[in-house]
Amino acid sequence: MRYTHETMPQTILVSRRVIEETVSRLAAEIANDYQGKNLVAVGVLKGAFIFMADLVRQINMPLEINFITVSSYNDGTESSGTITVHQDITTDLKGKDVLVIEDIVDTGYTLCFLLEHLKVRGARNVRLCALADKPSRRTHNVAIDYLGFTVPDRFIVGYGLDYDNRFRYLPDMYALEEYDDNC
Ligand code: IMP
Ligand code: MG
Repeated sequence: MRYTHETMPQTILVSRRVIEETVSRLAAEIANDYQGKNLVAVGVLKGAFIFMADLVRQINMPLEINFITVSSYNDGTESSGTITVHQDITTDLKGKDVLVIEDIVDTGYTLCFLLEHLKVRGARNVRLCALADKPSRRTHNVAIDYLGFTVPDRFIVGYGLDYDNRFRYLPDMYALEEYDDNC
């Protein structure tokens, strides 16, 4: 199965208004839980860049910003991909409260790796905030501490999410149309 990506996606799955309300709700929950703590928000690039920018501006407390760049390469099977860290965080995490900011949790493989990768750096605790969850494709158990919304098993673009690096700039989230190679 492939996706139509030469034309603009047509089906809005989550509108900018719903995204905005969701981001406000998450920011309020996070601010409430982390008051007085040394919060370090770690955005997972590139997908989380827009979500992260909107979220941190609404978390009403001092925090540190950091980014990590990862990619996963599958060698044919979903569960045996290799995660590569292209750009690691440089801050000392000892004794800090780390909140990973991710666009979407799909198989869970990336986050499973990443949460462990950050825990061994000596953080006091590591939690996860994800804008979207696609639980139907999960192969690795991941606890999402702050979740925006659950999405169906569709390929989603917009608001930072891409297909082949396209469509990240769209303010709403769309489901890409599928087409069958055999047709
Ligand atoms: P994982 O399968 O949970 O390891 O997800 C790996 C990464 O794939 C996520 O961080 C996303 O950046 C990307 N991804 C997963 N599902 C989608 C989608 O529907 N649209 C765009 N990117 C996705
Ligand atoms: Mg991502």
